[in-house]
Amino acid sequence: MQKKIIIANWKCNPISTKEGEKILFSLKESIKTENEVIICPPSVFLSHFLTLFSGIYSFGGQDCFFEEKGAYTGEISPKMLQSIGCKYVIVGHSERRTIFNETDKTINLKINRILNSTKLIPILCIGENREEREKNKTFAILKEQIKNALKGVAIGKAKKIIIAYEPIWAIGTGVYAEEKQIEEAKDYIAKILCDIYGSKTSKIIYGGSVDSKNIKQILGTTDMDGVLVGGSSLKPKEFSAIANYK
Ligand code: 13P
Repeated sequence: MQKKIIIANWKCNPISTKEGEKILFSLKESIKTENEVIICPPSVFLSHFLTLFSGIYSFGGQDCFFEEKGAYTGEISPKMLQSIGCKYVIVGHSERRTIFNETDKTINLKINRILNSTKLIPILCIGENREEREKNKTFAILKEQIKNALKGVAIGKAKKIIIAYEPIWAIGTGVYAEEKQIEEAKDYIAKILCDIYGSKTSKIIYGGSVDSKNIKQILGTTDMDGVLVGGSSLKPKEFSAIANYK
C-alpha cells in the first residue's frame, strides 16, 4: 500500500493558538497512519506548534515571499519557514491568485526561490474555475499554470514539487470533482510534466471539498498521491478519518 500525502490547509483559521492546539491534541489521539500528515496553519502559530508537535506532524507554510530578506513589510521568506522547522510550503493557492492578485510570474519567482535557497518542498496549487471548465478550457489553464510556474526549474528540483490539482469550483462548495474529472486532470498534468521533463517528475494530489465520506472514493478510485484539505481539516473527527485512509 502506497503512503499518501494528506495536507491540512487551515487557511485563516482558527483565531487563537489555544483553539489550534486543541485541534492538534485531538488529532494526535485519533490519527494512526503511515500516511504523511502535513499541517499548514496560519504562520503566526507555526513556531509554537512546531515546538509542541514536531515528530508527530510535518508542518508547512501557506505561502511565502520570493526574496530571502529585506525591506518587504509583512512578508515571510522560505528561509524563515525553514529556519523554524517547516518542511513544506503551499504556493499559488487559488485564494491567493484571486483575492490577492497573485500571478503566474510571482508564483514562478516563489517556486525558484524555494528550490534554490531551501530544502522546503513546494506544494504548487493549480486549477480552473467554473467558467473555464464550462468553456472546455481546463486543460489549457492547467498547461499554462504548470509551464509558467516551472520556468527555470531543472528536472532534479522539479522532482521535489507536489502539484495540487484544486478545481476552484470544488473548493469550499461541498461538491468534489468526479473521479473521472480528477483522473483526467492527473493524466493531463503528468503529460505536461512528461513534455517538459521526459517523465512525470512530481507527485500529484487533489483538493476541493474532500471529507471523511468521499476520501475512499477519491483516493480509492483515482491514482492520486494524496489530498489537500481545507474545511474538513479543522474538524478533528473529519480530518483524522481522512488522514487514516488506507
Ligand atoms: P475545501 O476542502 O474547504 O474545499 O478547501 C480546499 C482547499 O482550498 C485546500 O487548499
